[in-house]
Amino acid sequence: MRIGVLTSGGDCPGLNAVIRSVVHRAVVDHGDEVIGFHDGWKGLLECDYRKLDLDSVGGILAQGGTILGSSRVQPAHLVDGVERARGHVAELGLDAIIPIGGEGTLKAANLLSEAGLPIVGVPKTIDNDIASTDVTFGFDTAVGVATEALDRLKTTAESHQRVLIVEVMGRHTGWIALHSGMAAGAHAIVVPERPFDIDELTARVGARFEAGKRFAIVVAAEGAKPRAGSMEFDEGGKDVYGHERFAGIARQLSVELEERLGKEARPVILGHVQRGGTPTAYDRVLATRFGWHAVEAAHRGEFGMLTALRGTEIVMVPLAEAVRTLKTVPEDRYAEAETVL
Ligand code: F6P
Repeated sequence: MRIGVLTSGGDCPGLNAVIRSVVHRAVVDHGDEVIGFHDGWKGLLECDYRKLDLDSVGGILAQGGTILGSSRVQPAHLVDGVERARGHVAELGLDAIIPIGGEGTLKAANLLSEAGLPIVGVPKTIDNDIASTDVTFGFDTAVGVATEALDRLKTTAESHQRVLIVEVMGRHTGWIALHSGMAAGAHAIVVPERPFDIDELTARVGARFEAGKRFAIVVAAEGAKPRAGSMEFDEGGKDVYGHERFAGIARQLSVELEERLGKEARPVILGHVQRGGTPTAYDRVLATRFGWHAVEAAHRGEFGMLTALRGTEIVMVPLAEAVRTLKTVPEDRYAEAETVL
């Protein structure tokens, strides 16, 4: 069998572990040939690739980023994108393509699959918002980075009697905010799923100071916003790929809370540090299992499917189902966190 693999969209710790696992399972156990497309779908559309053997994936298990590179380019961006992809798949004699990506990548994978191409998807995102899998690799690493940052920020916040508003990633969902906020014992968490009331948030933070505490930490997912009309708020806009370019929740909340509370407040934006560096052991294992099962699905001819974690098992789910909705933070998970804030 000849397999093509690619990594597309925002990078994520664990991508290299998937690539390594695909190559090992395919080459060692099945005697397959594997090629890696450069910079995501762009590599497939431009027929830009290299052969991957055991040597080329040596030592990459613990490496962050992706040895193949990534981009936000998708077949749908070109008028002849699907036809180009089909042509290159035929030209290269590919029996399977394994795209590793998040929401946008999986939509592109579904489009190509519906056009008849042999696709087995692997989900990735630090945001953990792919509905069909219990967890995506990268999330555990990102939560670890954010939690460590929050632990560190507490000491400086206390020294200066400040309110720190810490912005974490999460465009549409607040999973990183919820988990890191719970893990670090934050004092308030705001997420996109649940527009916050600025009066309530002010009261919550203010109550801490009234009780004699010297600081407060608010964790804000980048996509969180206030309840309509509750405060002036600039939501920002979109980039050329349709991705949100937020005006900055942490900056806007720090101005508002400082004014309302009469306490010094500072915004802290963790940004891409959450996506960089070595994956945790959990993410390496999950990524490796996804890669292994993607190759197996390809050999069974199970195309148009996506690897997913359900409980402790890896299962295959239809791509069409996977791209339908996002996995948002449910109200009861938020309620659990609120009790301990
Ligand atoms: O991978 C998803 C994500 O982490 C979002 O939470 C964030 O908005 C986005 O990536 C930012 O990515 P970039 O700056 O690379 O476009």
